[in-house]
Amino acid sequence: MFINSMAEQIAIIGLGYVGLPLAVAFSRKHKVTGFDIKSDRVAELRKGYDRTLEVEEEILQSVLSDAPSEEGLFITSSLADIAEARVYIVTVPTPVDKYNRPDLTPLYKASETVGKVLKPGDKVIYESTVYPGVTEDECVPVLEKASGLVFNKDFTAGYSPERINPGDKEHTVSRILKVTSGSTPEAAKQINELYASVIEAGTYMASSIRVAEAAKVIENSQRDINIAFVNELSKIFNLIGIDTREVLEAAGTKWNFLRFSPGLVGGHCIGVDPYYLTQKAQEVGYHPEIILAGRRLNDGMGAYVAEQVVKQMVRSNIPVNGSRVLILGFTFKENCPDVRNTRVIDIYRELESYHVQVTLLDPRASFEDVEHEYGIRMSEALPDSIAENARFDAIILAVAHQEFLKVDIRKWGREGVVIFDVKSVLPKDWGALRL
Ligand SMILES: NC(=O)c1ccc[n+]([C@@H]2O[C@H](COP(=O)([O-])OP(=O)(O)OC[C@H]3O[C@@H](n4cnc5c(N)ncnc54)[C@H](O)[C@@H]3O)[C@@H](O)[C@H]2O)c1
Repeated sequence: MFINSMAEQIAIIGLGYVGLPLAVAFSRKHKVTGFDIKSDRVAELRKGYDRTLEVEEEILQSVLSDAPSEEGLFITSSLADIAEARVYIVTVPTPVDKYNRPDLTPLYKASETVGKVLKPGDKVIYESTVYPGVTEDECVPVLEKASGLVFNKDFTAGYSPERINPGDKEHTVSRILKVTSGSTPEAAKQINELYASVIEAGTYMASSIRVAEAAKVIENSQRDINIAFVNELSKIFNLIGIDTREVLEAAGTKWNFLRFSPGLVGGHCIGVDPYYLTQKAQEVGYHPEIILAGRRLNDGMGAYVAEQVVKQMVRSNIPVNGSRVLILGFTFKENCPDVRNTRVIDIYRELESYHVQVTLLDPRASFEDVEHEYGIRMSEALPDSIAENARFDAIILAVAHQEFLKVDIRKWGREGVVIFDVKSVLPKDWGALRL
């Protein structure tokens, strides 16, 4: 039976937000080796510490093993440790470059790594978000070249997109239905069985790898477009002078009205994945309209927030040049430490362009990451009471971390402080501006 033979060994390539929880889930039924090129990440994980906070220390400790051949999860950065695996699952990043073009370098490199240890009968499954065709047209040739093996004769491939949501402790990997696919009917069936062995929510076998790839990229594109729509509504209703949230709440009483909230669209999924789809569309001669319009709209929301704050300061007779503005939260979403592709940076930069002195506070983000990636030194925790002349002219609650919801942030503002509540979480009678 396939599951028993597959219980031999699985190697997961890339132990980030996606790879680590997946490795832990598989390790409950299979012998898993987690492989990553980042030595500091490997060292931390071996001690049981996951800086992404997706896997709790106690859980990680409980599955760690001492060798690839043992039950549980063995963590390594050595190629020799994944040489005996029969299934390779690739979960490396799929970023865009500065022109928003897909950058497949990590996928090529990971495929090369796998190709070096690929053996007849092995399977290589990709989980990274890509456009349709990447697995078979881009990755498989690298596997063939590095291994000298022939695709669908000596080895097979699969694609199973990941749907986790960082920071979400309810929808964890095994509790989300998983789409699977394979390069031959038999491989598809076996890959589906493999996932079904650990995914409690069940699996859905797509008809081909390309269908599974396309399904993932449209899930995130659909979300991006829907958020862009409500962001546009927010701009319109702001001009009309009505509260967008109240309108959405009223409209949401209809059975088929889709509930989305306006906001910044950051992170490395929703704000990035649509570019994978648009790139492929352009390659085949179609110029996407709605998808790119959604991207433009969402990318402009940070500057829009800053602009609204500045306008309100002007209306309140607060001189903008040299004013002091506090931004609360920098990560791309609440209660999560990830600052990659955060759009709060757009609020920050736009305010700076008005010669505003911006103070940034985020108890969840790492000081080093923010300084390293954005060149910004965050503020230390603010005291409960600050001197009258040191209080802020405006406060922007950009990310609704739990820490910020427990305090009355108005204490850091001067009298008549302008408050912008990006996530609409503050009491309405505070009179904060919101999207
Ligand atoms: N984070 C999410 O919420 C999420 C959700 C669904 C899908 N995805 C997709 O999953 C993929 C991975 O995302 P992530 O958030 O886990 O990324 P991540 O940056 O958190 O982790 C990727 C890991 O891969 C490692 N890596 C990079 N190149 C490697 C190589 N050649 N060999 C071995 N390891 C390598 C990195 O060191 C890193 O630890 C992306 O395609 C992403 O779009 C992410």
